[in-house]
Amino acid sequence: MDTIIEPFRIKSVEPIRLTTRPEREALIEEAHYNLFNLDGDDVMIDLLTDSGTAAMSAAQWGGLMQGDESYAGSSSYYRFEAAVRDLMPFEHIIPTHQGRAAERILMGIVADEDAIIPNNTHFDTTRANIEATGAEAVDLVIEEGHDPANMHPFKGNMDVDRLDALLQEKAHRIPLVMCTITNNSGGGQPVSLANLKAIKAVCEAHDVPLFLDACRFAENAYFIKMREEEYADWSVPDIVREMFSHADGMTMSAKKDALVNIGGWLALNDDAWAEAARNQLILTEGFPTYGGLAGRDLEAIAQGLKEIVREDYLAYRMASTRYLGQALTDLGVPVVRPIGGHAVYIDAKALLPHIPPLQYPGQALAVALYETGGIRGCEIGSVMFGRQPDGSEEPAAMELVRLAIPRRVYTQSHIDYVIECFEDIVERTRELPGYAITHEPEQLRHFTAHFAPI
Ligand code: F0G
Repeated sequence: MDTIIEPFRIKSVEPIRLTTRPEREALIEEAHYNLFNLDGDDVMIDLLTDSGTAAMSAAQWGGLMQGDESYAGSSSYYRFEAAVRDLMPFEHIIPTHQGRAAERILMGIVADEDAIIPNNTHFDTTRANIEATGAEAVDLVIEEGHDPANMHPFKGNMDVDRLDALLQEKAHRIPLVMCTITNNSGGGQPVSLANLKAIKAVCEAHDVPLFLDACRFAENAYFIKMREEEYADWSVPDIVREMFSHADGMTMSAKKDALVNIGGWLALNDDAWAEAARNQLILTEGFPTYGGLAGRDLEAIAQGLKEIVREDYLAYRMASTRYLGQALTDLGVPVVRPIGGHAVYIDAKALLPHIPPLQYPGQALAVALYETGGIRGCEIGSVMFGRQPDGSEEPAAMELVRLAIPRRVYTQSHIDYVIECFEDIVERTRELPGYAITHEPEQLRHFTAHFAPI
């Protein structure tokens, strides 16, 4: 059989409130044309993020009842630690309430005004946590990673020559190198094992540790299995172990590839950094055996890690994302290719060439999608990345709209509805207006900025 079915059936459902187009036009105007300001109830298909939006399994819900809520030494912590270490064999595994808490703790320890932290592409919270210490965040993804149409199989790879050149000149200012798997800001594109090994070799030559920002590690491992010949016969868990064997630490948002609604961790081998991290953890998150989570959350993560590396799940996951990407391509909607793991990224600059980058074509498309079908996507372009630390504004490298697919939540008919909304939009792209920002905060402006159509 060729049909790849959802390898699960649905035991519990949530109603979706159906809205009309005039209702949605009023709602988005009230929200100052910022999709983050909408109530979840006013969204029909929520593709804002794949983070914290997964449907948990019966085994995970069952696990919640087994949570040991002991303040110290909870048995749930030990089950969580064992599940993490089974895939990511680090010495110290420190739970946090989500990924950015791990980033903040790590950067608080290693970074200062002199520091430079390279990555393939920093995600917005990672960049913000680095810049909050006064340090500089540098993106070193390969050239192909900036070209939405380029079919390179590992567009998340880091440009190792540029990394080497940076380390040659400034290794004394670089406390660690990061690599984000998959590269979310660059289109959900994977990093190959060959590239991870090459990054690690360069880091080792300069005695600088390598940390993975590993939110979507299982999707990255499945891409390696599919696209890197050497690993075609390896099991996904073995590929995962191989990936992490080249790293000295990791930050993790369990809200992605641990199939839970909240959670994260920082893991590392360095004893002194781990001690400093645990001290920070106690200040702001909690005791080291719960780190801002309940015991039951740790149980859900431990079970989620077992489910996420299953090949039937990953085959379905990739097929469903590819299905949406292929249908949009067939409609003539330019999307980042190859299709990423957790999301389809639409090239709004190419779809809406009449809107200049600083009138935010990505925002224009995201608003149109909401008005048309109650679908919530996310701009990843000049709204998110345009404001520079010195206060100036520059266009981002790409103007994308991300349609992120929550794990195990939507069926194929939901996705068919999304495709139908695009059929409507492609007929009237030239009518879509650009936007001006009428209000913005100092940091991470995309979450709370106000917009007005021009
Ligand atoms: N790193 C990457 C690559 C991410 O995608 C995210 C979150 C984080 C770190 C931070 O994790 O949310 O648990 O604090 N990405 C979400 C998204 C928000 O929608 O892509 P967090």
